[in-house]
Amino acid sequence: MQINENTLLIGRFHKKVSPRSLNIYNPVFEELGINAVYMLFYNEDPAVLVSGLRTLKLSGAIVPGFESDSSLPPLLDSLSNVANFVGKVGFMYQRDGIVTGDLQSGKGILRTIEKVSSLEGKKLVIVGAGNVVKALLFEIREKGIGCEVSIFNRTLGNVEALQEEFPFIKARTLDELESANGDILANISDIGGSAEDIYFTEKVVGNFSNIVDITFERENTNLVELGRKLGKNVSTGWDMFAYQGIVCLEAITGVEIPFDVMRKHVHVGLSETVV
Ligand SMILES: NC(=O)c1ccc[n+]([C@@H]2O[C@H](COP(=O)([O-])OP(=O)(O)OC[C@H]3O[C@@H](n4cnc5c(N)ncnc54)[C@H](OP(=O)(O)O)[C@@H]3O)[C@@H](O)[C@H]2O)c1
Repeated sequence: MQINENTLLIGRFHKKVSPRSLNIYNPVFEELGINAVYMLFYNEDPAVLVSGLRTLKLSGAIVPGFESDSSLPPLLDSLSNVANFVGKVGFMYQRDGIVTGDLQSGKGILRTIEKVSSLEGKKLVIVGAGNVVKALLFEIREKGIGCEVSIFNRTLGNVEALQEEFPFIKARTLDELESANGDILANISDIGGSAEDIYFTEKVVGNFSNIVDITFERENTNLVELGRKLGKNVSTGWDMFAYQGIVCLEAITGVEIPFDVMRKHVHVGLSETVV
């Protein structure tokens, strides 16, 4: 790729040196001929990075180091509806000097689920009740998708808190997971990643046709392997990683990114950095 005066600069904003995704998005730009570069900028203080984005006219930034930092959103000019609702910013883009914060996880996991099955009229069973689930429920409601949603979570109170906003969901504890059944089972929790998986058994997986896992620390989790062994349709955390990246880069560059291209580079790039 030839860097010139039209090259879009996109930041990876982090608190420390953290190279993940530099080896994914830059090869995607290269393969698709998109005149953009993805570069790491790091500082403990998000105000320094946002000020740099404005001054240097970056097109946008993905902010994995600051998703939970409440001092970031007030630094921006506006927030998307989903970022405002969840109270988190995952990426930002700058147009005509206006910096907008947005959140990629809800759209990313929705597309990951839709890779294995449409949702309309289906029964979706979710494990987990954290931020990604909140963003997903927001997107399901925004799109007016009519599906039945049951959520199984370690802490029942966290699902009940979601129920106040989304009365259509059913709340269950993880102890009841063996009785769960439906069209799609989606693990949207730390289980299988930073938390040990003592929950997903053949009996649980056998009750579904479609399996979705969000774990990105490794692709072939116990849940993914059980899904494949039992002949289910499976979407993995690396599919989610790809869809999330597409959501961010399409919003920042305005260019459509084919899933197959992003997915290929996610496989190569994550194999180098997380396995
Ligand atoms: N593949 C990707 O590209 C991608 C993208 C985004 C996120 N992720 C992953 O998705 C996961 C969820 O993200 P999030 O932002 O929604 O996280 P979060 O808000 O922290 O929620 C974590 C969820 O995991 C549950 N959990 C944590 N430890 C557990 C344990 N030992 N046993 C059972 N449940 C446990 C929590 O249950 P309680 O409510 O009981 O605490 C909660 O439901 C994270 O692991 C994250 O790394 C992957």
